[in-house]
Amino acid sequence: MKDFEISVPVKVATYGELSEMDKRLVGMAREATHRSYAPYSHFCVGAAILLEGEIIVTGSNQENVAYPSGTCAERSACFYAHSQYPESKFKEIVIAARGTDGEFVDNPIAPCGACRQSLLEYETLAGDDVKVILCGKEKFFILQSVKSLLPLAFDEF
Ligand code: THU
Repeated sequence: MKDFEISVPVKVATYGELSEMDKRLVGMAREATHRSYAPYSHFCVGAAILLEGEIIVTGSNQENVAYPSGTCAERSACFYAHSQYPESKFKEIVIAARGTDGEFVDNPIAPCGACRQSLLEYETLAGDDVKVILCGKEKFFILQSVKSLLPLAFDEF
């Protein structure tokens, strides 16, 4: 029997260390949390996706009284992006959240499994890494790709 390990490189950055484009995407993801519809969890998530050609699409979590019918911010954003701009490759996604106190969360939140799988589809389509930035209040986790968030992903059949 052999072992192998999968490790995920994560950069931790301050706001000041982000590029101008990253700062813009952070601002848009944060702004999108204010369009979240989260009357049940009161946890407001926003996502901003950069497509090629500098197109930016945002999304937020949209909840439903029948809980599983709601959708996370990342899937709202990626499904909207691909339905509106099917020819444009994904380049980057930035995710921000405000907690039940209405404040931006101190620690970066990471997408749920279903969102990771959904986002991976568009990274695969793009044929290149889609950068991921997870926003905390003052610290930002930067991952080189969606795949790094989903090791051993199901990606072919
Ligand atoms: N949520 C997201 O929108 N994205 C995530 O990455 C995690 C969770 C939403 C789902 C639900 O509306 C609320 O946050 C609480 O789980």
